[in-house]
Amino acid sequence: MVKAVRYDEFGGIEVLRVDDVDRPVPDEGQVLVRVKAAGINPGEAAIRIGAMADIFPSTFPSGQGSDLAGVVAEVGVGVDRFSVGDEVIGFSEKRAAQAELVLVDVDNLTPKPNRVPWQVAGGLYVAGVTAWGAVHSVQLDKGDTVVVSAAAGGVGSLAVQLARRAGATVIGLASQHNHDWLRSHGVIPVEYGDRAIDRIDAAAPGGIDAFIDTHGGGYVELALALGVAVERIDTIADFAAAAKYGVKTEPGTNARPGAEVLAELASLIAEGHLEVPIANVYPLTQVRQAYTELERRHTHGKIVLEPQPVPTQRSPLRETMLNRRMNPVGTAQSATLGTATTRRHIRYSACACVVGMPL
Ligand SMILES: NC(=O)c1ccc[n+]([C@@H]2O[C@H](COP(=O)([O-])OP(=O)(O)OC[C@H]3O[C@@H](n4cnc5c(N)ncnc54)[C@H](OP(=O)(O)O)[C@@H]3O)[C@@H](O)[C@H]2O)c1
Repeated sequence: MVKAVRYDEFGGIEVLRVDDVDRPVPDEGQVLVRVKAAGINPGEAAIRIGAMADIFPSTFPSGQGSDLAGVVAEVGVGVDRFSVGDEVIGFSEKRAAQAELVLVDVDNLTPKPNRVPWQVAGGLYVAGVTAWGAVHSVQLDKGDTVVVSAAAGGVGSLAVQLARRAGATVIGLASQHNHDWLRSHGVIPVEYGDRAIDRIDAAAPGGIDAFIDTHGGGYVELALALGVAVERIDTIADFAAAAKYGVKTEPGTNARPGAEVLAELASLIAEGHLEVPIANVYPLTQVRQAYTELERRHTHGKIVLEPQPVPTQRSPLRETMLNRRMNPVGTAQSATLGTATTRRHIRYSACACVVGMPL
């Protein structure tokens, strides 16, 4: 038997549980992956509460999750690109990624470069290909200025970096606590909320050429008020506004970028050109706690589940932090750390802000 996230009805976080299920057996063209890390995404919460039942119907019991990274445990007939023991990044199209062992179509996998940490690899697919698709959709060029909403979130944190790589000046809408991170990536931070339009105008006296909305709830209207042309506005979250005003919704649900783009992003990370900030890492058994944090909607980067704890890869920044006995928010750790779960959680948290750094 293997552990897997399951739920039997639409509902809140309380419907989530971790079950023992039969070990999956790979069919032709499938690979069985022993998962090291699996990212979580707001879309999964929307599916779980039934808010997307029209677009993405569910059958029960339902599994959960797309993002994963792990080690090949078994290959099906006809698979010659991967062998047992290979380290891979990929995605499940069956909402099954949050489990110890997951069947993945061979075309949905790419090799994991050595220098990409497990947690980063496991959280890469949805946010990565969405950011890639959104940035490409607004056709950025050198000299363009683009605004990205929710600029420090899962998708936004990658979109701002890819937009910078495309040569654009990037304005990132985010709370104050994310401004230093944005500045460190060459992004001009602007606080969202009342009179954001004035602050954007002040930050970009030459005007705004493109807008990538990764939050919804009024940013398409803001983009139009800033004078951005509809064909250079992309929203991944406000489909009603997109239908109303005719702006883009790429990458959309059809023909989403797949393993090729995943490989491109993984290689950028391995080369130190792209950072995936890891906000927190939870054991699979704490899936409810992980979504509780995600659904507060102030995550910086990604939250990742681990079926089994993965030893943290060493980095100079991590060594410094451990030597100073500090956690990511800079408070000294207590000498008495409570229960084993608490201790493990603190260990996860202590490494959380550095695992996204290229090692
Ligand atoms: N269409 C697709 O293919 C697709 C794919 C992936 C995701 N999505 C959707 O895209 C959205 C973002 O996904 P995600 O994974 O990036 O989410 P996320 O990581 O949960 O986003 C968190 C970010 O949202 C920001 N935020 C919260 N309230 C905000 C506001 N009023 N204005 C601007 N930013 C605000 C927070 O910023 P601060 O902490 O700085 O306040 C935080 O950094 C979700 O709705 C998701 O369902 C769509």
